[in-house]
Amino acid sequence: MVIGGRFKDHTGADLMAKMWVEKHRPQSVNEIRGQTAVIGRLQAYAEQGTFPHLLFAGPPGTGKTTAAIALTRDVFAESFRDNILEMNASDERGLDSIRNKVKQFAKTSPLGGATFKVIFLDEADALTADAQGALRRIMEQYSETCRFILSCNYSSKVIEPIQSRCAVFRFRPLANDQISQQIDEISKAEEVELDEDAKEAIIHVSLGDLRKAITALQVAASLDKHVTRALIYETTATAPPEELHSFLLSCKRDGFHPSRRKLQNVLDKYGLAGTDFINQLHRAMFDAGFLEEIQKLELTEMLAQVDFRLVEGGGENLQLDAMCSNICRQLSEK
Ligand SMILES: Nc1ncnc2c1ncn2[C@@H]1O[C@H](COP(=O)(O)OP(=O)(O)OP(=O)(O)O)[C@@H](O)[C@H]1O
Ligand SMILES: [Mg+2]
Repeated sequence: MVIGGRFKDHTGADLMAKMWVEKHRPQSVNEIRGQTAVIGRLQAYAEQGTFPHLLFAGPPGTGKTTAAIALTRDVFAESFRDNILEMNASDERGLDSIRNKVKQFAKTSPLGGATFKVIFLDEADALTADAQGALRRIMEQYSETCRFILSCNYSSKVIEPIQSRCAVFRFRPLANDQISQQIDEISKAEEVELDEDAKEAIIHVSLGDLRKAITALQVAASLDKHVTRALIYETTATAPPEELHSFLLSCKRDGFHPSRRKLQNVLDKYGLAGTDFINQLHRAMFDAGFLEEIQKLELTEMLAQVDFRLVEGGGENLQLDAMCSNICRQLSEK
């Protein structure tokens, strides 16, 4: 059951408290990693104690929800829970639910001496076009008493009139050293023994998504407090680059059947779906010193086609065999 955007079990205990992403979520804007351009402006809002409607856009796990809650907390201090309404737009996509809830919430005056309340609309890009149309009026109607913070992955899915009512902030994937620092801090707090190359593996699999990085650490540490590189790859459904390189080398030297067996082994060992394999292979290919530039370009084109066919519903075995035979032909040494 979701209450106020937090998961609770039947006894009301906070299940999320056990998750490190929640436990180590920055409480104040000052504690958020990276996003320097965004954070500087949010700190100024926190100092002024007021802000306009805000739209946070950017990839998953980069701090949008964190920033919305931290800013509200910085502005309202202890009374922040009473002054924020969290709505997840992908659960409540309809126009009526938005209008009713917002109206209800906006009716009561803000607590703790504040002059406005905050409505945090998560995943706003999941709202229907009708609901966005209604929202644009609601934002104006209640702008005296309410500030909206909207969060989305794709700002292009939010209609122009809403964007123009908001100060728009773009969140970026986090840099390697920012992920590294947060992972170090959490490992220390949770008493995890994290190998240096395991941390590099976490950075590699997370692709700038700090939620993914912290989750990878927690999942691995729940199996063994000594977290190794191999454990990270095994628990994140990611093949390490050397396995993918060895598959490519096998295509180049051994031909179709041995390389096809190698491919199956990698899929089984790391629990990969066909599209996972293709995307990971694409990424690993660029570091493969034994490939020429032109080969990389041609393979990219082909992998894109196979990926598309798989997403469109093509059979996995046949598509992966076709991919394998294509790579063998292109790289064959004869
Ligand atoms: N910039 C950051 N600094 C510190 N911790 C972060 C940052 N970004 C993400 N995290 C960590 O990852 C978790 C998830 O982040 P958050 O909920 O803010 O992501 P989001 O950008 O809202 O993603 P989504 O688009 O999926 O909603 C947080 O609880 C926090 O532990
Ligand atoms: Mg979010």
